[in-house]
Parts: sequence; C-alpha cells; structure tokens
Amino acid sequence: MIPQEYVQEVVRRTDIVDLIGSYVQLRHRGRTQTGLCPFHNEKTPSFVVYPENQSFYCFGCGVGGDAITFVRKINNLDYVEAVKALAGRAGMPMPEEDDKAGRLRSRILNINRDAARFFYAQLTASNAEARRARAYWKGRGLSDSTIRRFGLGYAPTGFHACREHLKSLGYTDEELLASGIIKRSQKGNLYDAFFGRVMTPIFDLRGNIIAFGGRVLDDSKPKYVNSPETMVYKKSKAMFALNIAKKSTSRRYILCEGYMDVISLHQAGFDTAVAACGTALTGEQVKLLSEYADEVVLCYDSDEAGQKATARSLELFSQSPIRVSVLNIPGAKDPDEYIKKYGRERFETLLNGTRNAIEYKLARIKEKHDVASPAGRLDYIKEAIGLLAGRVTPTERDVYAGRLAEETNVSKAAILAQLDGAIAQARRRASRQRQEALMHQGVASQIKVPYTMGGSEALGVANAEQQLVCALLKRPELIARVKQRILPERFLMEDMRNAYTAICGCQARGVPPELGVLSGMLSEEEISTLSQLLARNYDIALTDQDVELYMDRMERSLPRSREAGKMSVQELDDYLETLRRKKGAEEPGGSPGTTR
Ligand code: UTP
Ligand code: MN
Repeated sequence: MIPQEYVQEVVRRTDIVDLIGSYVQLRHRGRTQTGLCPFHNEKTPSFVVYPENQSFYCFGCGVGGDAITFVRKINNLDYVEAVKALAGRAGMPMPEEDDKAGRLRSRILNINRDAARFFYAQLTASNAEARRARAYWKGRGLSDSTIRRFGLGYAPTGFHACREHLKSLGYTDEELLASGIIKRSQKGNLYDAFFGRVMTPIFDLRGNIIAFGGRVLDDSKPKYVNSPETMVYKKSKAMFALNIAKKSTSRRYILCEGYMDVISLHQAGFDTAVAACGTALTGEQVKLLSEYADEVVLCYDSDEAGQKATARSLELFSQSPIRVSVLNIPGAKDPDEYIKKYGRERFETLLNGTRNAIEYKLARIKEKHDVASPAGRLDYIKEAIGLLAGRVTPTERDVYAGRLAEETNVSKAAILAQLDGAIAQARRRASRQRQEALMHQGVASQIKVPYTMGGSEALGVANAEQQLVCALLKRPELIARVKQRILPERFLMEDMRNAYTAICGCQARGVPPELGVLSGMLSEEEISTLSQLLARNYDIALTDQDVELYMDRMERSLPRSREAGKMSVQELDDYLETLRRKKGAEEPGGSPGTTR
C-alpha cells in the first residue's frame, strides 16, 4: 500500500492538462480543453479535460477519471504502477517497495543479465559451435563492436546448458521459470527456452534486460523464438533499441519491423532505429515513442505484409502528436538488406525523401487504379478526394489537389470544387455522428436514472444519489452536514454508496475528496462514473437548496428495504419500474413518468 499522503502529493504535483497534453493534442474550449479521445477511434473531438477539477471525460466512449486513471488506462498499469509513473514524472522519490513481487522482479532482471553474459561467453568461446555462431553474425555484416553494443550472443545446443549455468549461480528453478529462460515440458521436464540460436537481448529504458529474441542460424522454422511475457516483459510496451535511441540528439526515429534491421541501421550510424518486439505495433508503443520522438519514419519491409503493417501503423500514429512519414525501400526486402546492397549514403538519401502520410496513402490509392484509362483516372480522383476531405489541413488540400490535377490532367478548379462538396458532406456526417453520440450518452444516463415520479421537477432517486455525490465532490464543505442526515445504507445504487462512503472517509481523515485520492479507494468504473457526473455538472452550480432537494428525495423515496440494497442496478431498475406501474394503475390517466 502506498501512503495516502504520498498519493496526494503526486496528484498535487501533476497538472492533468500537461499530462494528457503529452499524449493528446488539446485545444482550448472555454475553461476546458478538448481533443481526440485516445481510448477510442474518433474523428471529431469528444474528449474533454477539466483543469479546474483535474479530471477528464470522453462523451464518445464514456471513459473518464483523474490523472491516475488516465495513466493507468493509457499505459495499461495497475494503481501502484500508475502512482509511481506519475511520481517519477513529477521528480518525486519512490515510496518503499517491500513486497515479494518486487523481489522476484529484481531476481528475474538478474537472471536475464547473467543469461546474457552466458550467451556472450558462448559466442566468444573457442569451440566449433561458437565459431559457427560468430560466422553467422559476421555473415550478417556485424562488427565486433556492434555485437558488444547490442550484447548479442549465442545459446548453445543441448537443452540444459543455460539452466545448469544459472543454477550454479544460485537461482532456483521457480525463479528461472518465472523469467522465461527455461520451460517445463508437458511431461514435467525442465529445459532451456533457447538453444542453438543466436541471441539478441531486449533492454528496457533503464538498461535492464527484460527479454530475448533468438534466431536460428539457417532457414529452419520458427525463425525467431522470443521470451514469453513475464513480470518484467510486456510485449505490447517494449520497444527494441529505444534505450539506445533515446540518447540520440535526433528526435526523428526510424521504425522498422525486425531486430536485424535495427541493428544494421545502428551499425550504419542511424542511432534512432527502433522496432516493436515480435508483434505488430501497439497504441502503447506509439505513446511511448511520442515521449521521445517528434517524427517517426516508418521503414517496414517492402512486401505486402509490410505495407499492411504500414497502413495499420499510420492509423495508430494519426491519433498522436508525432509527425509520421513513410519510407519505401526500392530494390530490397528490408532496410537491413538495402543498406548492405546500396550503402548508408543511399539510405540517407531515401530518408530525406520520405513521403508523408497523405502522399503515401495517395500513392497507394493510385496503385489500385489504372490511371492510363479515363475511367481509372476518375476512380482515382474520386477515392483521392475522399482521402483529402478527411483530416487534412487546408494548405495540404490545396497542394495535393494541385498535384492530383497535374497527374490526371483534370483542372485544379474542378478538383477543388469536388473536394468542397466532399468536405461539406463529411462535415454533415460528423455532426450527425456527434449527435448520435450525445443521444447515446443521454440514453446511457437514462438507464442509470430509471425512475422519475411524474412531474419534471421531481428527481429520480438514482439521479438524486448521483447529484448528491457530485455536489459533495464539488463542494466538500457540505460533507459534514450531509453525513448527519444521510447514512451510506440509504443509497440504493451500489457505486454511489461506495463513492459516498469513500468521500465521508476522506472527510473524517481531513483529506480532500479529489478523484486522485478516491481512485485509490474505488474501482476504475466507479471513478469513471464520478468523472462523468463532474463533466455533466461542470457548468452547473449545485446550490444548498439543490442538496436539500436531493436529500429529501432520497429520504422520501422508498422504505429502505434490505433487499433493495442487495440489488444490482438492473434489478433495481426493474423493481422501480414495477413500483411505477403500480402507481400508474392507482391513478388512472396519471402520467407514466419515465420513458425508457
Ligand atoms: P522478419 O522475418 O522481417 O525479421 O520479421 P528480420 O529481422 O528481417 O529477420 P532476418 O533478417 O531474417 O534475420 C520481423 C520481426 O518479426 C518477429 C521478429 O521480431 C522479427 O524481427 N518474428 C519474425 C518473430 O517473432 N518470429 C518469427 O518467426 C519471425
Ligand atoms: Mn531481414
């Protein structure tokens, strides 16, 4: 457990606009900031950051919370990890880590370090196997200094060399299994995960070895074996060679598909080459990169799989502030092969002539159509206009419309006219989608607020509970008074009851009930609901009278039944619905109240 005071200090030292701004491009809108939601795909911003109460909420997908929730979600961390990440960002010393998990974690890192030393020793040994391995790396054009810089090695054949060595250093089989360096067969026998492979260690940003990739020396399959995910290795978050690239003075990164490409590029002097490890690029890796890179050049293999990966990655990068461009590798299958064939200067020239995302996509569209025929040209123009009508700046539109005109021999004016039409259509579509999103939101809150007793001024119980909790978040000075009248058991909705209990707990300890503090006491979903309430009530002053009304409403609602307390929201809904029906039956012609 991290001390509450520590969390408070972390939250106090974190500015949520600053934090979120490093992941999402935010724009001022009144006292709030908006941008494209990083948690779902959208083209018009429905993601709002509220500096005043240090929270965020997305009206599109309903995700919301405080700085801690944000860091958790965006980096897929647990609560403690998120607090630590924020603490690190704020330059605070870490709270003590005393747990068993922490100890095992550092044992695994030691195992990996010792395994890498072993693999290096095996590579430099004076036996036939080692010579073969050295010949392999040499054959790939690697120098001794590259081998040392990347800590490359060799895992010998046989099934036990690595395990035996590490056991002699005092590691237990449990620890070795946890590190992924050995495996257990179906029969229960333990054996080395890597044998007869050249080895590439994968480092984290602090220089710890977190995993390995091992390649066969010939054409057998599988070509690569990678470490499994462990306590210290999450594939979707690791970035090969980022530990080296981050020291570069350049902020223009080269993103490749394979380890070998990265190593070759570094050897040729391109020290910002990185790769995702054994998976397709993930959003988490994009976010990680965005902390170091201003610009990324996608440099995938030239085959169809590489082009598919390029398209996917462009989509991922379109949500980030990184400028992205695409490098095509003519006459070679990947950057590694290209450098070997044509040398570093020509690669450098390629790098300086990269195409931006729009150019790349236009070129891909063009390839699909037969631009020699008039019909093909028209199809090309049509599809290209669809692209340019999307998220493209006016200047870019003008430039590419001009290019399109030249390429197709159609007048620029005609293309611009078509483009205007397409843009207007795209706007209409976007505004329709926004309205639908808002409607969904309305529906969502109606489901949560199931019961209104007739007249419009009367509030549903559930709504009253939510509003009361929200009022307490906005005006903590009211907690003491409300506490005297409303017991937690009075709440029918479980999430609001938990929130209320936590808020009262804060007050009792003299801690402000901020989302940052509450996020240690409530579930992620509950925090999300609270941030939604805050967002909904952002411009609404909740007065003393309002609060009285909420309490009245809660007290007059139902005889507090034990059963209701155990009900899920859905069951409660149904229960309230039956009550409402009964009431309607007693008052013929009475208004049915709720629309659901
Ligand atoms: P490539 O086959 O393009 O790898 O796969 P490469 O680096 O160019 O390999 P060489 O040049 O033949 O040595 C790209 C990446 O996909 C992962 C690895 O991370 C590799 O670097 N991969 C590939 C695997 O994880 N397993 C495989 O069997 C193959
Ligand atoms: Mn290759």
